[in-house]
Amino acid sequence: MEKRVFSGMRPTGKLHLGHMAGALTNWMKLQEDSAYSCFYGIVDWHAMMSDYANSSIISQNCKEVMLDWLAVGLDPERSTIFIQSHVPEHSELSLALGMITPLGWLQRNPTYKEQILNIQNKDLSNFGFLGYPVLMAADILLYRSNVVPVGEDQSAHLEITREIARRFNHFYGDIFPEPDTLLTPTPKVPGTDGRKMSKSYGNSINIADSEKEMWDKLRTMVTDPARQRKTDPGDPAKCPVWDIHKVFNDDHEEMEELKAGCLAGSIGCVQCKKALKEHVVATMSPVWERRARYEAEEDTLEDVLREGAKKARVVARETMDMVLSGIGF
Ligand code: ADP
Ligand code: NA
Repeated sequence: MEKRVFSGMRPTGKLHLGHMAGALTNWMKLQEDSAYSCFYGIVDWHAMMSDYANSSIISQNCKEVMLDWLAVGLDPERSTIFIQSHVPEHSELSLALGMITPLGWLQRNPTYKEQILNIQNKDLSNFGFLGYPVLMAADILLYRSNVVPVGEDQSAHLEITREIARRFNHFYGDIFPEPDTLLTPTPKVPGTDGRKMSKSYGNSINIADSEKEMWDKLRTMVTDPARQRKTDPGDPAKCPVWDIHKVFNDDHEEMEELKAGCLAGSIGCVQCKKALKEHVVATMSPVWERRARYEAEEDTLEDVLREGAKKARVVARETMDMVLSGIGF
């Protein structure tokens, strides 16, 4: 039988090349693999948890994420893609799971402990933030998922999901599979300042950026800091632009030439960036085209969202029926 996959993203606005290479590329592989049936959700309730005072932007952000997903090639015919709040069973299951989740599991969650200490610009002293892993467990278990592709940073949350599944099954019958983490090796994509590409650093190249915007960012991106002049030898291993080459450049011969030229100081950073630009444009052109098409057709996007939620709800309702009858309601 095919394995069910769930993964989600919070609607934080336009996605960047890090999201694309670090997550969506793997999601696409699972979509194309007939062994997996994929559910991909934009988890807007999770965004409300930290941004409740600014909730009016969440819905626009959901649209941006959905446009980016469709643009990179997530396909509503092959994957079930939807917005979490359109499937009310997420909240319903979250309530049920919360009833049996010991507070200690949530209080000991390393992400909780870390963020409550370090995040200052958001109010995290609310029930929703402590309960984040419960809602996340509901997102996953609602589809009786077998596999969850996530980054290393989410491993602890997945462990809580498994514990919640075991405890729920213990009380109410064998309802939930214990989902496995699918840790796929993903490149860490650096941003224009050399740090990890992240919206919060303001160093991202967005999927939705035009060719000109992309080139402006690439052109001024930091390289090996030891390389001041074009004739100085450089070291690709210390160059964030090289890391982006590794993601987008599939021409191994050219890569070898650029590497040798950098090490010898015979190829300048601008030339290397221009070569990279060609590969980024080649990869992104169909993505940009698809995004523009969906952006122009508001109705199509609405249809995709409605159909996605409808498909998701079939499984979601089935699970909730099992849950409710297990409880004895
Ligand atoms: P969240 O949406 O949970 O807040 P992020 O926005 O940080 O998380 O990232 C969503 C996904 O994209 C994660 O799987 C993360 O590993 C991946 N990702 C984000 N930024 C990068 C990056 N610069 N390089 C590689 N992967 C990234
Ligand atoms: Na598939």
